[in-house]
Amino acid sequence: MNAIDIIARKRDGFTLTAGEIDFFIQGYTSGAIPDYQAAAWCMAVFLRGMNSEEVTELTLSIARSGQMLDLSDVAPLVADKHSTGGVGDKVTLALGPVVAACGQPVGKMSGRGLGFSGGTIDKLESIPGWSPRLSISDFKRQLANIGLVVAGQTSDLAPADGKLYALRDVTATVPSLPLIASSVMSKKLASGANVILLDVKVGEGAFMRTLPDAEALARIMVTIGAQAGRRVVARVSDMSQPLGHAVGNALEVKEAIATLKGQGPSDFTRLIVEDAGLLLHLCGCIPAAVDSDAIAQRAIADGSALEKFRQFVQAQGGNPAVVDDPEGVLPHAPVVHTLTSPQGGWLAAVNARTFGEVTVQLGGGRMKKEDAIDPSVGVVLRAKIGDRVESGQPLCDIHARSEADARAAAERLLAAYLWSAAPVEPPALIKQTIYPEALNV
Ligand code: URA
Repeated sequence: MNAIDIIARKRDGFTLTAGEIDFFIQGYTSGAIPDYQAAAWCMAVFLRGMNSEEVTELTLSIARSGQMLDLSDVAPLVADKHSTGGVGDKVTLALGPVVAACGQPVGKMSGRGLGFSGGTIDKLESIPGWSPRLSISDFKRQLANIGLVVAGQTSDLAPADGKLYALRDVTATVPSLPLIASSVMSKKLASGANVILLDVKVGEGAFMRTLPDAEALARIMVTIGAQAGRRVVARVSDMSQPLGHAVGNALEVKEAIATLKGQGPSDFTRLIVEDAGLLLHLCGCIPAAVDSDAIAQRAIADGSALEKFRQFVQAQGGNPAVVDDPEGVLPHAPVVHTLTSPQGGWLAAVNARTFGEVTVQLGGGRMKKEDAIDPSVGVVLRAKIGDRVESGQPLCDIHARSEADARAAAERLLAAYLWSAAPVEPPALIKQTIYPEALNV
C-alpha cells in the first residue's frame, strides 16, 4: 500500500477500503505522508465523494489519530455543540456558558476559521491571553472545576483533523460532505461528549448551500454519532445572511458578551436560547414538563451565564476583564467606515458569503496556512433581511486596517445587498431538527 496508489484510486472514483483510509490518515498524522499528497487526496475526495461506509471509516480513523477521551470519571454526561461553519456564527461563545450555567457540563474541541467561515478558536484568541492549548488533564480538570472547556486540535486529540483542517482551508477543499462530516464527527468522538447538538448551517454563507445538501450532511453525522453510541441531534439553521450583527473575531466576542448580558441581536439570542434549551433537554437535566428555553433564558437574565463565561476565560488564561470592559480589552481596528444604502427599500438579500470573504480579505482569515490573522477587523451589520432602509441610511460598519482596505471592502459589500420595493419576510432561522430515531439508527 502506498499514498500515490490511494490518491489515484480515489481520483479514479473507486471506493477506498478501511485499511487504505487508515493508512493514509495515520501516515499523514505521523508526517510520513507530506502535505502535497494529502492536498491531492483531499481534492480527489472533494471531486469524487465517498460512500457512507468510507465516511464512517474516515471519521473513526481521524478520531483514532490521537487519544479518545473518556470523561466518565469527570461527569456522568458531557454535552457538546458543533456548527458546520457559517458567517457571524459565534454560537459556541454564548451557548456553552448558558448550558454550563444551568448545571450541564460542556466540553468541546473547536476549530479555526475555515474558508470564508470564522472559527471559534480564532474568535476566542482575540481575548488577550486566552489559549486553546490544553493537555488532557487540563481539559478534564477544567471540566470538573467549572463545567466548561473549549480546546483546539492538539497532538493528543484528533491531530489528523488539525492538519487536514488547516490544509483544506487553503486548498479549496472545504465544502465537501465527507470531509466536513469526518472533520466534525472525529472531533466530537475524540473529545468524549455523550450528547451532541450539531448546528448544520444552510445557505449562501454555509458550506452546504441547499437544504437537501444540508440534510444529507446532518443525516450522515447523526448516523455516525449513533453508531458510535452517542446521542446526536442535528439542527439545520439559516445562513443566508450573517448570524447576529458582528462578523470578525473580536467583534463577535464583543457581541457574544453583549448577548450574555441580555443585549444581543434578536436572531442570535433566539438561536442561543433554543439550542441551549434543546441541549439541556437532550441531556435529561430538565424534566419534560418544564420549558427548557425558559431555563436557558433565565441563565442570561440572572447573570449566571455571563459569570460562567468569565470563569471560562480566566481558566484558559484569558483576561477576565473582557466581560466588564470588552471595548477596553479587545483589539480595535484603526479605521471604521460606514457603508450607506444607495437606495431606499426593504432588504431582500444580505449575502453572508460576501461578508465572510470580505472579512478574510480585511485580514480576519487566512489565505495561506501560516498566515497570522488580525482579530480586530470585520463588519458590523446595521440592517438585515426584511428591514426597511432609506437612501443614505447605514447598512454596515467596516472595521479595517486602512482606508484603502475599507474602501475595497465597501465596494464588494454593496454587491451583497438586494432591495425590494415590497416588504420582505426574514428567513426562518431554524429549518429542521433531525433526531436519530427518525433515521432508524
Ligand atoms: N467544522 C469542522 O470542524 N470541520 C469542517 O470541515 C467544517 C466545520
